[in-house]
Amino acid sequence: MVRMKRIFKATVLSLSLLLFLSTITGNTTLASPQDNQSEIDSNERLNVAHRGASGHAPEHTIPSYELGDQMNGDYIEIDLQMTKDGVLVAMHDETVDRTTDGTGLVKDYTLEELKKLDAGSWFNEENPEKAKPSYEGLEVPTLEEVIQTFGKDKRYYIETKSPEVYPGMEKELLRVLEKYELTPENEERGTVLIQSFSKASLLKMHDLAPNMPLVQLIHYVTPATITNQELQEINRYAVGVGMSYNQIDQEYVEKVRESGLLIHPYTVNEKEDMKRLLDWGVTGMFTNYPDRLDDVMDDFEDEDENEEDED
Ligand code: G3P
Ligand code: CA
Repeated sequence: MVRMKRIFKATVLSLSLLLFLSTITGNTTLASPQDNQSEIDSNERLNVAHRGASGHAPEHTIPSYELGDQMNGDYIEIDLQMTKDGVLVAMHDETVDRTTDGTGLVKDYTLEELKKLDAGSWFNEENPEKAKPSYEGLEVPTLEEVIQTFGKDKRYYIETKSPEVYPGMEKELLRVLEKYELTPENEERGTVLIQSFSKASLLKMHDLAPNMPLVQLIHYVTPATITNQELQEINRYAVGVGMSYNQIDQEYVEKVRESGLLIHPYTVNEKEDMKRLLDWGVTGMFTNYPDRLDDVMDDFEDEDENEEDED
């Protein structure tokens, strides 16, 4: 029920935005939304389980993704690296050092070698209060294993990491998505979102699969600003943008939304930040604690409903 309310309210927001955009067309430099973007706009505000529920379990492992799902995450976020033998695996860093008991670059490991590493014990050591014996010896999952585990009923928010290090990464990603019928031609548009900090990688994806919804990640080290020209350019190939939540303000959020793009800040772990961002109008966010965000979204909807009742 709550989920339905989120979808409904976001749809109303989208329609309002489209109406607003249609009234300003012709006398502004803002980009118009892509023809088929409204389908994505009408999604609910997204609770993206960042590396799974990685505040509770070892990031990018099956148990972390399962927890994210149980905690009402709408999307599993997956960072991709590629092995020496060309297999896409779920890992954030280019090296295995931080999240396994191995050392060295992912690209220097074959899948068989990578599978021998322990991707869970580091979490137990760093988080004794959340440690579980079942995390010991967890494997690094391949993208295919994640999809095989969760199937087409789950939604995936996939990031091409270090694409300059892995030539052919985009083609291989598309091959896997096609194999499991997760491309927009086979699935509801939005079952898979592809994100990257690399515009070149997104443009490659756009060339290979023009209907695939893409999200441009932007790295800001100072308070964020964005020009109409930049928004127009991003609108050409992507449906949304993502950036660090602590570099943006309400004006930035409104400007992005007025351009027709989605906005998904990362990585938002405190409830007060989640609430503030929802108040500003973001269309979702990445969090290591999808349980907290689910609570905040429920309260947010209840408050909205009370205000409507009073009107
Ligand atoms: O993909 C959104 C966010 O995850 C980007 O930062 O470094 O956690 O992949 P990172
Ligand atoms: Ca990421």
